[in-house]
Amino acid sequence: MKTINVGLIGCGFMGRTHSNAHRKVNNFFDLEHRPVLKAICDNNGEKAKAFAAQWGYESVETDWQRLLARKDIDLVDICLPNNLHLEVAVAAAKAGKTILCEKPLARDGKEGEQMVRAVEKAGVPNLVSYNYRRIPAVALAKKLIDEGRLGRIFHYRAKFLQDWTISKDLPQGGDALWRLDVKVAGSGVTGDLLAHCLDTAVWLNGGVAEVSAMTETFVKERKHQLTGKVEKVGIDDACAFLARFKNGSLATFESTRYARGHKALYTFEINGEHASIFWDLHDSHRLQYFEHRDPGYLRGWRSVHVTDGDHPYMGNWWVPGLTIGYEHSFVHQLADFFEGIAKGQPAGPTFRDALETQYVCDAVLKSAKSGQWEKVKAAK
Ligand SMILES: NC(=O)c1ccc[n+]([C@@H]2O[C@H](COP(=O)([O-])OP(=O)(O)OC[C@H]3O[C@@H](n4cnc5c(N)ncnc54)[C@H](O)[C@@H]3O)[C@@H](O)[C@H]2O)c1
Repeated sequence: MKTINVGLIGCGFMGRTHSNAHRKVNNFFDLEHRPVLKAICDNNGEKAKAFAAQWGYESVETDWQRLLARKDIDLVDICLPNNLHLEVAVAAAKAGKTILCEKPLARDGKEGEQMVRAVEKAGVPNLVSYNYRRIPAVALAKKLIDEGRLGRIFHYRAKFLQDWTISKDLPQGGDALWRLDVKVAGSGVTGDLLAHCLDTAVWLNGGVAEVSAMTETFVKERKHQLTGKVEKVGIDDACAFLARFKNGSLATFESTRYARGHKALYTFEINGEHASIFWDLHDSHRLQYFEHRDPGYLRGWRSVHVTDGDHPYMGNWWVPGLTIGYEHSFVHQLADFFEGIAKGQPAGPTFRDALETQYVCDAVLKSAKSGQWEKVKAAK
């Protein structure tokens, strides 16, 4: 078995999900590669040391440039706030490292383009962590669509709802709250949450041609944690948009951090000529499926419990009927990434694939400003 020495940067929320995946992937998937937790890097040295002890990293760095200069690091795992993705990924590509980068690819399409150029010039394997693709029920939806069971697709409907920024006293910027600082995040719910919805949508239903969007920033000023000053809020707190896919289907997308009572309600529904699909992150191991070609007396929505051995990924886990959860999507992502490297057939979304999502986000934000329908830039 070939070892891949991992240098993971950013030991926050995603640092934990990725470290967990590196530790578990070979226990459940037969792969040619085995990740070794060589180095953890965070500019908060104390946090990095404690993280190394908890997760079993062999060494600690506090400067990502030093990490990239190390010859003993093969894979750079970028779990940093969005404003750092470009600089770190471009440098990692120049250093010849394999790159796993958290989503969104970048703050906007222009940054994303530089990242795509860098990894393609260097010829290094690359993947963006849109992990919801790898929830078995979502992967089953892909299989059903690819088998043609839905027929022509008419509608795509997605939403991602949260409620954690309603308080006007919540500051912006700095640790944990960088998502509210537009300079760091790039945008609000569009780049953060709708990017997830869009990655799934483009994967399942193909490219988006044009969009018409509205955004709102409900709390216009917040104290900035780093400067201590009250500053204008530049992110979109909520966004809703209409979209027309290249295959002619119509779509609605909605995301907000102001939907009281919802913590992470990601749902999508797809309506086709013969069948429909509905999925809900809060019930993530179920796929709702309606098949119009069933005999009339049997027609109805079925709730498929996606836990059987012949469901995507599930044969690698327990026995039929037993569920897995959120963290497993990151294990699947890593297994697919390594399998793609072994076979020379890159797993998606590559940086180039993720640029497509970035372009839709750009068009959404542009449309919200212009009040017009905006065309989505072609990614390929
Ligand atoms: N795939 C998903 O579902 C998902 C979920 C959450 C976050 N994300 C993405 O993951 C990325 C990280 O988000 P998070 O929630 O883990 O953030 P976080 O704030 O929890 O962690 C970020 C870490 O980066 C460290 N850091 C900041 N600047 C640094 C620097 N210059 N050098 C080294 N370390 C530095 C911080 O100290 C912190 O430990 C973001 O791009 C975010 O959009 C993806």
